[in-house]
Amino acid sequence: MKRLQLQALLLLLTGCSTPSDRVHIPLEGSQGRTIARFYSGMIQGNESEEWILEDSAGLGIRLSALRALSPRLASTLDEIRDGEDRLERDQWNRFLKVLVEQSAHYPATLAELFPSGLPHTTKDSYFRLRVYGAMTTLQREIYVPKQALEDGLLNYWDRGGMLQYPAGTLIAAYHKNSSGATLEVTVKKRRSDGFWDFGVYDSSGRNVRHSSSPPTPFSAPVQCVGCHLGNMLYEPEESFIIGREGKTEGEYLVLGDRLRNPKIVELLDEHARRSDHVLGVYGTAYLTEILDLPPSRRTETQKKIASLFLALSRMPQTN
Ligand code: HEC
Repeated sequence: MKRLQLQALLLLLTGCSTPSDRVHIPLEGSQGRTIARFYSGMIQGNESEEWILEDSAGLGIRLSALRALSPRLASTLDEIRDGEDRLERDQWNRFLKVLVEQSAHYPATLAELFPSGLPHTTKDSYFRLRVYGAMTTLQREIYVPKQALEDGLLNYWDRGGMLQYPAGTLIAAYHKNSSGATLEVTVKKRRSDGFWDFGVYDSSGRNVRHSSSPPTPFSAPVQCVGCHLGNMLYEPEESFIIGREGKTEGEYLVLGDRLRNPKIVELLDEHARRSDHVLGVYGTAYLTEILDLPPSRRTETQKKIASLFLALSRMPQTN
């Protein structure tokens, strides 16, 4: 406090105008902008002014907006920056740590997160995909709510070829060891601003701060966003090429043969477009499954999806 008073006095004496309302942060480029927007949406209030701003100098924090939104976070920032108007990488990381602690949390247990039953016990409501991916060498079993996926596919054409999930959608990925035991579950929950919150639950279903599957533990959400909001493209398309079994597991998203429909892969181009910050190719895989079903076995919603895609994409009927 003393320091602030002193600064105010110095400013008065030197005749300077108001101190800068802007603190520079060490993020840049399109990826930096996306990550900044992700963090910006982690604390929300009624204030209309965004606390992250972008101007000709790059990305920064608007102090007045942060103070209005969270006085506690603003005073943490003041402590960390120590009068400077620019955060170095380690200072930004310290700030993020406090931001994460102060923002909305996932419930303490998986059971509370899924009050109507864990995904693996309510299989009919979920589209399930088993993959080997970039996150871990363990097998991942991913559960995407069918209703959310169907909503995304039904609205795909109206949204100009964007596959988007409704706010509140929860995707869960179980990490399984070779004997089939679940070692942990990672989750993503769709926020209303288009980003997803990241969470991790340990083998006893308790919410924890970071994953611990081999080879690398990742802390949520700071390390999750590195891949999830990054520009690096994983290679699900490789998964559709028969005969790539020689490649090391864990480096690629490995999908089963039944999902290799090149026409649908090309049409949705899901992994490259990432219209909703989702990395897996669930729309591609589910649409393939729907079109592979004999029409009489499709649900009403699946029939609608099939006819929309067959009519609008000039795709041949596969069944
Ligand atoms: C090394 C890059 C990487 C990191 C780090 C990473 N992920 Fe992922 N994640 C992926 C890829 C690639 C996919 C899609 C394929 C898969 O599931 O393996 C994915 C998929 C997911 C999914 C399924 C939904 C989707 O977007 O496809 C969830 C849930 C998930 N990750 C949670 C997390 C959480 C929580 C963290 C941090 C603790 C994290 N991830 C860190 C690469 C990463």
